[in-house]
Amino acid sequence: MFIKTNHQLAYLSKIMNYYKITKPIYSTLLLCALSTHLSFSQNKTQSLKSAYQEDFLIGTALGTEHILERNEKANVLIKREFNAITPENIMKSQLIHPAPNRYNFDLADKYVEYGQKNDMYVVGHTLVWHSQLPTFVGKIKSADSVRIFMTEHINTVAGRYAGKINSWDVVNEALNEDGTLRKSVFLNKLGEGYIKEAFELAAKADPNAALYYNDYNIEQPAKRKGAIELIKKLQASGTKIDGVGIQGHWSIKTLNLKDIEDSIIEFSQLGIKVAFTELDLTVLPNPWDLRGADVNQRFAESPEMNPYKDALPDSVQTALANRYTDIFKLFLKHRDKISRVTFWGVNDSHSWLNGFPIRNRTNYPLLFDRALEPKKAYQAVLNLKTAK
Ligand code: G3I
Repeated sequence: MFIKTNHQLAYLSKIMNYYKITKPIYSTLLLCALSTHLSFSQNKTQSLKSAYQEDFLIGTALGTEHILERNEKANVLIKREFNAITPENIMKSQLIHPAPNRYNFDLADKYVEYGQKNDMYVVGHTLVWHSQLPTFVGKIKSADSVRIFMTEHINTVAGRYAGKINSWDVVNEALNEDGTLRKSVFLNKLGEGYIKEAFELAAKADPNAALYYNDYNIEQPAKRKGAIELIKKLQASGTKIDGVGIQGHWSIKTLNLKDIEDSIIEFSQLGIKVAFTELDLTVLPNPWDLRGADVNQRFAESPEMNPYKDALPDSVQTALANRYTDIFKLFLKHRDKISRVTFWGVNDSHSWLNGFPIRNRTNYPLLFDRALEPKKAYQAVLNLKTAK
């Protein structure tokens, strides 16, 4: 019986009256219709954020078009499915702080307003990162000037949104794959103490925000070890750090659940929360078995490297759904340790993976397709919580 609206219910009741169906039969039929109606309404309101509300936040990364609410279908989807947001690019120093003493807060203000008006958990991304730096920073010669840049940047940006940002990715991608500290303008000029300085400045500028260290591949053993050392040093010096962000730029082919589980356990043993901050799963061939998210790595375009240009075969669609199922089963197993799972983008057409590490490819890494419709992977993730 497919009773979907109140109007249809009223109609059913009229028919029953007309045919003089007796009261007990009528009640039974009505109850049956009502329960179908209710379960349909529940399905209609089902969403990732409601399904996982007892477990962890479900987030997405917003581009400019989302912050400005340019596409109503995307806007409805974002508000329905997600209760946490991260700005994909607009809070990076190159964009928000393009010149000394010049800040561009327009989009960041709108981003924060968007989160507040929709009652979402608002993430700040990111305060200190070697990449996407303003050009003037590259020209700085002295350690003092780097320190002044970093200090003013954190004070001004984190200070402006104090009380409005729920958590900051304070330092982003400070580690090499072997767990040593990455050479950057910050490390080169300020030494390894820059990480502690950055966390202390952030804590002072916004005492209420949760402070995270965020990186890719830190579920892998060597880099994880480096991240654990980094976090332990901060803790030993009395510096506030609330969590670690494992980015989660993974592949359906090379996903390593054991590494992920070990890292959830080991990071949480440090007494901090674990967030998956930039989740996506590439379905495309990976040149030279590249892993991770170093945006400086690029490879040549070729048809073999772009096999699903027109559509994703069912078998790959299913493989993607299965991999997402595996990941979310693991997340649910460790729900007490995980604060948030954020997808890196709203839908497939928006993903950075269409342009990395090879430009102009057609990738399918997220839960919503190019028409903003839920994919099999979406249903799989939802089913883990809702299927009876
Ligand atoms: O805004 C310019 C635009 O004016 C210009 O016409 C266009 C031409 O290429 O470039 C635009 O800037 C691009 C920007 O994204 C906005 O689309 C940059 O070239 C491009 O490099 C930049 O890529 C971003 C990348 O970080 C580098 O900042 C990706 O969108 C973003 O998804 C990615 O996100 C990072 C996280 O912040 C940190 N972890 C890894 C993750 C993936 O690389």
